[in-house]
Amino acid sequence: MDSQTWRARFEAFAGKRTRAALSAVMPPYETEREQPAPRMRAVGNGWTRAMFDGPFYLSPADAPREPSCSLVFVQSADGNTGAANPADLGGGATDAHLIYEGLSRVAADAVLSGGETVRGGGTVFSVWHPELVQLRAALGLPRHPVQMVATLEGLDVERMLLFNVPELSVIVLTASAGAARMKEALSARPWVASVVMRDKADLRPAFERLPPLGVRRISCIGGRRFAGSLLDAGLVDDVYLTTAPRPGGEPDTALASAAFDGAVVVRKRGTREEAGVMFEHLVRRRPGRDVSNP
Ligand SMILES: NC(=O)c1ccc[n+]([C@@H]2O[C@H](COP(=O)([O-])OP(=O)(O)OC[C@H]3O[C@@H](n4cnc5c(N)ncnc54)[C@H](OP(=O)(O)O)[C@@H]3O)[C@@H](O)[C@H]2O)c1
Repeated sequence: MDSQTWRARFEAFAGKRTRAALSAVMPPYETEREQPAPRMRAVGNGWTRAMFDGPFYLSPADAPREPSCSLVFVQSADGNTGAANPADLGGGATDAHLIYEGLSRVAADAVLSGGETVRGGGTVFSVWHPELVQLRAALGLPRHPVQMVATLEGLDVERMLLFNVPELSVIVLTASAGAARMKEALSARPWVASVVMRDKADLRPAFERLPPLGVRRISCIGGRRFAGSLLDAGLVDDVYLTTAPRPGGEPDTALASAAFDGAVVVRKRGTREEAGVMFEHLVRRRPGRDVSNP
């Protein structure tokens, strides 16, 4: 596919996501608990504060060696996260457009995904609602976050939208086999950088190479297997978790229990047609970076 066709595909995708965000019926959330620690950063504008019933909190991204990293997930009432389209899990439109394609990444330098989650290839991870686009600009950030993908085996670069739009910065987190497999395709795409690990356990040294590439805050969107690797490596600060009011999803696809091992600083409830939805922001305790309340 030539560069003009990719550009047209990207514009069509961006238009579709923007229209979806603008036309969505989003009942606002209501606050049940709000206890941020003093070092947390609060972001928002008039629209997001009204929709979210207050500011959205972020852990500080000031550690010198590695980026701050959050996970954002929606789970069914019985804890499953696997679904071809996670929106089908029942988190609702407010979760999809205000949290997932919104506040969880509005201040992020990069959105990071596991290889399986992006395999379909038609997605770019950004904010689309005009209020969130404006908020991101007001925070002094580029229009689109860096697109980061983690793959050990390598991905089909020629076929995936996010690799083929030169205005998007892309970072591939991979191991030597994946790097070898993608070498030719990546060398033709100077807007894609690679961080090559010795093996899959090397996530921490890989993260330490990200600040010089401009990545100090990461929003990781899963899936659960890659999220589990980040949790095992002790690289996750915040978990933004929306729980749907009904069971569903692929069986046995619960998040690793370590994802729940944090202090709840914010809990919100869905309203109106989203009654029963629960949003929680958990802050994990990390040595030297503890921002949670005692
Ligand atoms: N509910 C939600 O919020 C949510 C969020 C995201 C995704 N999902 C759903 O979850 C499912 C996919 O999740 P999943 O757990 O099967 O897969 P995943 O976590 O998206 O991806 C797993 C892949 O990540 C790569 N990977 C794993 N560890 C790595 C490491 N240490 N370094 C570099 N790369 C690493 C490997 O890619 P390679 O195979 O390329 O080597 C691995 O196969 C889909 O159904 C998706 O729609 C749900």
